[in-house]
Amino acid sequence: MPNLLNVKIAAKRPIATDICLLELSSVSGEPLPSFSAGAHIDVHVSNGVVRQYSLCNAVGQDHRYLIAVLREPESRGGSSAIHDKLGVGDVIEISEPRNNFPLAKPGDKVLLLAGGIGITPLLCMAGRLHQSRAPFELHYCARSIDRMAFREYLATCDYREQVHFHFDDGDENQRLNLEKVLPALGSKSDIYVCGPSGFIDWALKAAQAGGIPSDRLHREYFSAPPVASGPNDAFEIVVASTGQTLTVPADRSAANVLIEAGVPLAVSCEEGICGSCITGVLEGIPDHRDAVFTDEEREGGDRFTPCCSRAKSARLVLDL
Ligand code: FES
Repeated sequence: MPNLLNVKIAAKRPIATDICLLELSSVSGEPLPSFSAGAHIDVHVSNGVVRQYSLCNAVGQDHRYLIAVLREPESRGGSSAIHDKLGVGDVIEISEPRNNFPLAKPGDKVLLLAGGIGITPLLCMAGRLHQSRAPFELHYCARSIDRMAFREYLATCDYREQVHFHFDDGDENQRLNLEKVLPALGSKSDIYVCGPSGFIDWALKAAQAGGIPSDRLHREYFSAPPVASGPNDAFEIVVASTGQTLTVPADRSAANVLIEAGVPLAVSCEEGICGSCITGVLEGIPDHRDAVFTDEEREGGDRFTPCCSRAKSARLVLDL
């Protein structure tokens, strides 16, 4: 199970319509665990509500974490509690940083595509790429200028000429046109996309149509995208370390069954987007229903997410 850290809200301020920025600092005064660009933390908001937020400050800063929180229109205690109930001086629990969205070794140019609050991991990536002098472009799309977090910073920073802003309510000419952007990339370019699932799916489809190989497309979802899946059937899981065999009924998740049986398992988002519950598979064929793994990782079949994924075989032996 992952370690939890106590951190203090050292600063909190609005940075765009419905978006606030929180600076979290260590309570003990010890440096915070290091992180890489694209990492996120779990924030334990209250009463068992846990939400994931990308770290947007510069890699190498160990005195603070910065997260930007969008007030979700249908929030039931996650983002709205952070906006309305948490304030400077409050102490909250967070997980150590985890990274399901790391920067690969840059090949040719790197293209960063942000939709709305999806800017958060890409801001950290842009800083890292600039620091390492890797060629990159950041395209940042938002509904309107007032909903664009970090706009002032991005418009004035050292790499501002590599940043392009696009607004849904602006004129047609400034909208992001991937058919124009993609042909300028080299054959070994990586694309990183983060934002609402419709934005990610649109960008990935355009990149695939533009001939970008799938192992160079990287994405991170903030909410579970619809996953094509068959009906839920019951299956068996075997805990390799103890030999314990458990049945996962059609209406329950493998994670629920494991936790109820007392098997230690870290669970956070419970919808296949955070990667907290990733478990090794020693035998059997997983039926992947998450948004964490790439197509190649799914084909590997040696890991699965018990919070939402199921099995194509009658039995999975888990490396637990
Ligand atoms: S708990 Fe988040 S992916 Fe399983």
